[in-house]
Amino acid sequence: MKNNRYQTLGEFIIQNQEDFQYSTGELSRLINSIRLAAKTVNHEVNKAGLVDIIGAVGTINQHGENQQKLDVYANEIFIRTLRNRQIVCGIASEENDDYISVEGSDGQHNSKYVVLIDPLDGSSNIDVNVSVGTIFSIYRRLSPEGTPVQLKDFLQAGRNQVAAGYIIYGTSTMLVYTTGHGVNGFTLNPAIGTFYLSHPSMTIPSEGNIYSINEGNYVHFPQGVKNYIKYCQREEEDRPYTSRYIGSLVSDVHRNILKGGIYIYPQTAKAPNGKLRLLYECNPMAMIVEQAQGLASDGYNPILDLEPTELHQRVPFFCGSESMVRKAEEFMKN
Ligand code: AHG
Ligand code: MN
Ligand code: MN
Repeated sequence: MKNNRYQTLGEFIIQNQEDFQYSTGELSRLINSIRLAAKTVNHEVNKAGLVDIIGAVGTINQHGENQQKLDVYANEIFIRTLRNRQIVCGIASEENDDYISVEGSDGQHNSKYVVLIDPLDGSSNIDVNVSVGTIFSIYRRLSPEGTPVQLKDFLQAGRNQVAAGYIIYGTSTMLVYTTGHGVNGFTLNPAIGTFYLSHPSMTIPSEGNIYSINEGNYVHFPQGVKNYIKYCQREEEDRPYTSRYIGSLVSDVHRNILKGGIYIYPQTAKAPNGKLRLLYECNPMAMIVEQAQGLASDGYNPILDLEPTELHQRVPFFCGSESMVRKAEEFMKN
């Protein structure tokens, strides 16, 4: 093992650079920029209760949802940080209608990577002081280097991700990410602004007892999901399930990775593709969960195998402990 318990994220990134195929240090610099943006957003999230920064800003985003001010702020911070450092050739964000093409100071588009972000996940939890997060996903571009990015650079199957991660602004702030060599979690020491490797080689228990789903939508769920919930609720000693639902994907999945569990946001009668976005939420979370030895599925097929057709595509999402996801899939198939 290359890492030890008190390694900082900065040291870890440098030491593990050789893990990336054809590495030129570009991906390391990119992850470093995300680390910087995360610290800035963290600072702002922590201030949310103190200053008049919370509350709806009055604009409606791509998905017809009321944008909170912090969503806008987090979006700006991530985009500005990635842009300024000129380490990506394109950015797509849940908060923007279209992708952004980034050019270097020389007017060229020489970077290899595109980034997709959900800058603030769980935004309805901001003004009630409940954990929120950021999710990011990184791909190598498909179009030739030196040319402006194209839509196809963003519409890649999740399997092609070179890295993915999330930041959870919780009781402590953590950055959890993978470059395809397992999952590592870093906790921020806010006093000195440094992330430390607190959770090396994270793995999700193959069986768990937590199911996380918004049961308020129960009547609209497909029969397979209803049956799975009833299975979890059955009064038998060998099925000791319990329900936990925060309403922030990042927080719900983070807890399930640590404790074992399943997160489900299924299709409903009203939303036939569910609510979560394939590119900004499901693909990165799926890569992390798979790298932590869990599973992520749309109820039938692995999320990472889906071929996206549009930037803001939604997809039903089942993810977590391997045996729980398999069980839920069984119910979906019957
Ligand atoms: P976002 O704040 O980025 O729009 O995402 C909210 C998502 C996700 O974080 C959460 O799990 C889910 O929406 C909750 O939806 P419901 O309120 O419908 O349960
Ligand atoms: Mn989200
Ligand atoms: Mn969001």
